[in-house]
Amino acid sequence: MLVLGIESSCDETAAAVVANGEHILSSVVASQVLTHEKYGGVVPELASREHLRKIRPVVDEALARASVDLTAIDALAVTEGPGLIGSLLVGLVYGKALAFSLGKPLVGVNHLEGHVHAVLLENKMARLAGSPVEAVGFPAVTLVVSGGHTSLFLVKTRSENGPALFSYQRLGQTRDDAAGEAFDKVAKLLALGYPGGPVIDRLARFGNPETVNFGRIKMKGNLLDFSFSGLKTAVLYRVRSTPLATEAEERRAWRTTAGRVTPQEIREHCSPATLDLVAGFQNAVITDLIERTLAAAETARVKTILVSGGVACNSLLRERFADVAPARGLRVFFPSLHLSTDNAAMIAAAGYYKLLAGARAETSLTAHASFPLGGERQ
Ligand code: KG4
Ligand code: ZN
Repeated sequence: MLVLGIESSCDETAAAVVANGEHILSSVVASQVLTHEKYGGVVPELASREHLRKIRPVVDEALARASVDLTAIDALAVTEGPGLIGSLLVGLVYGKALAFSLGKPLVGVNHLEGHVHAVLLENKMARLAGSPVEAVGFPAVTLVVSGGHTSLFLVKTRSENGPALFSYQRLGQTRDDAAGEAFDKVAKLLALGYPGGPVIDRLARFGNPETVNFGRIKMKGNLLDFSFSGLKTAVLYRVRSTPLATEAEERRAWRTTAGRVTPQEIREHCSPATLDLVAGFQNAVITDLIERTLAAAETARVKTILVSGGVACNSLLRERFADVAPARGLRVFFPSLHLSTDNAAMIAAAGYYKLLAGARAETSLTAHASFPLGGERQ
């Protein structure tokens, strides 16, 4: 079954053609980074307009790279939510109109379920290609961690001689900023560039994470929830009215005149104190993500952890999970970098299982800015 996936929930316009939920024939992602970088964050109105411009060329390119035309597509899967409402509507209405005009089945997909399927899709592809990779075991705890989300889910699967059915139970989520959002805001404060995650990831390697100790993030109530706004404020207090603030302003002035700069140049414009600060900040975020995910795995008594979303690209997160997992008998699965960030292959893969299970979108299908995945923990 060839599924055309469409994703436009935030600032990437994406389309992909995936065969049988296990083979990516094409995956095209048009990033809007250049549009939003001067604002240090996504501007929703600009994002919607850019999606409008890009959606048709991106879908056409996905079909061309897969060497298929629309008549060969068996079904469509579109992101239904959560995300920016104006952005979501562009992909959703485009997909809906295409499905209607072609008379093909359509399903709506939760963006977070898409992130979970990014890991499963990649694992299947690797095994089909003959790599000696272990299959993802279930039940599993999934950490979805990006610029818009930081949530933990318990994922279960059932397959009684029929298509695999997935169920999701939310174990915890952020009460304020998402982890990626904290990276982006700290990078903006320090004038390091946008998006903040990749640049902080690189710079942190040159700083000492022990110099600035932010301590553990304390939570009341559900200990599997997250909170990153306090940490972001703690960084602000360490910068405000200090030489670090002056240095950040100098960097901001340099960046506005320098045009595109390389990571090496950014590093050369950072003092050791700034590098130590970003290393300490990254260490605090990653430690928190890892400890709560391990606690979730222990509480749910599972041996498999899946990590997905833009922050899953973080090198310290990958290294630390790889370090701690074996001693606890845990298997941790990450998608490759290009499937960690937003893409439509994951939407097509998640949609495939829903289609197999008989799901079909009603004509009333619409976008939802807030769209919880699965039930909450009782
Ligand atoms: O999944 P994604 O592409 O879009 C959302 O759904 O938000 O994630 C983008 C987020 C941004 O906040 C970005 O700063 C963060 O992922 N990110 C990273 C890294 N690469 C991207 N955060 C930490 N370390 C990275 N290497
Ligand atoms: Zn995402």
